[in-house]
Amino acid sequence: MAQVKIEAVVKSQEMLADGVYSMVLSAPEIARQAKAGQFVSVYTKDSSRLLPRPISLCGIDKEKGELRLVYRVAGAGTEEFSRYEAGEKVQVMGPLGNGFPLKEKKAILIGGGIGIPPMLGLMKALDCERTAVLGYRDSQLFLKDEFEAFGPVSVATEDGSAGTKGNVLDAIRANGVEGAVIYACGPTPMLRAIKAYAAENGIECYISLEERMACGIGACLACVCQSKEVDHHSNVHNKRICKDGPVFAAEEVEI
Ligand SMILES: Cc1cc2nc3c(=O)[nH]c(=O)nc-3n(C[C@H](O)[C@H](O)[C@H](O)COP(=O)(O)OP(=O)(O)OC[C@H]3O[C@@H](n4cnc5c(N)ncnc54)[C@H](O)[C@@H]3O)c2cc1C
Ligand code: FES
Repeated sequence: MAQVKIEAVVKSQEMLADGVYSMVLSAPEIARQAKAGQFVSVYTKDSSRLLPRPISLCGIDKEKGELRLVYRVAGAGTEEFSRYEAGEKVQVMGPLGNGFPLKEKKAILIGGGIGIPPMLGLMKALDCERTAVLGYRDSQLFLKDEFEAFGPVSVATEDGSAGTKGNVLDAIRANGVEGAVIYACGPTPMLRAIKAYAAENGIECYISLEERMACGIGACLACVCQSKEVDHHSNVHNKRICKDGPVFAAEEVEI
């Protein structure tokens, strides 16, 4: 089925940490088809901001027809979303992108910052042994307790106020990755380090990339990244993050 643009209804909104919000939308037409790792384009009501804001799916409840979005206020668009209350109507297009492949071997899920929410959706969707490694700025460990319902969780914080001080790679090494598959979403330097670590150690690895987007459906080429292989349509080393991704096998893309 293709993506649809619908009028969703806000069911609830809560603040999880400073500037980080969890918003549940009633969006049955999208929830029915959605899978972990996909995203939606959320339109603002301010007509001076024409482009929708891409936000990953943190939760999908097919039975209730609901989507959960967890987002950080970054600018005017996400600030507007944070003011929505239950009952507000919002234009949403989705589901967009490809989602994570669900493998059946031991999984290590790595989320950094606002890359953590889509990993919770994956943690729920996987049906295998799984461990989460979550990287935060400080001790505001949003969503951590929800991950713990599905498996062990290691934490790294930039300021050392909780878990290991430093980056998620230290926590990954401590977990033992032999025979495992790595899934990761977070800032590009983190993904670059994980891609290199996976290549050095021969580990299967999938990364979810972010880029500023316009159409969100593969038409405008605003979101391309460099790929290893030549694209058959355009004959260049390009992949569209919105349509070919956002999830890629790590060796497929140059970051
Ligand atoms: C596939 C995808 C999934 C995403 N999922 C989430 C999510 O689950 N939760 C979440 O909080 N955010 C997510 N983002 C980022 C989110 O789309 C941006 O933060 C948002 O569009 C900013 O809009 P704004 O109007 O608030 O800020 P703007 O005023 O548009 O921008 C404010 C600041 O954010 C930066 N920014 C804008 N867009 C992006 C972007 N796409 N990537 C990185 N930086 C950006 C700008 O450079 C600027 O510094 C995702 C982005 C993509 C591409
Ligand atoms: S945003 Fe238009 S092609 Fe990706």
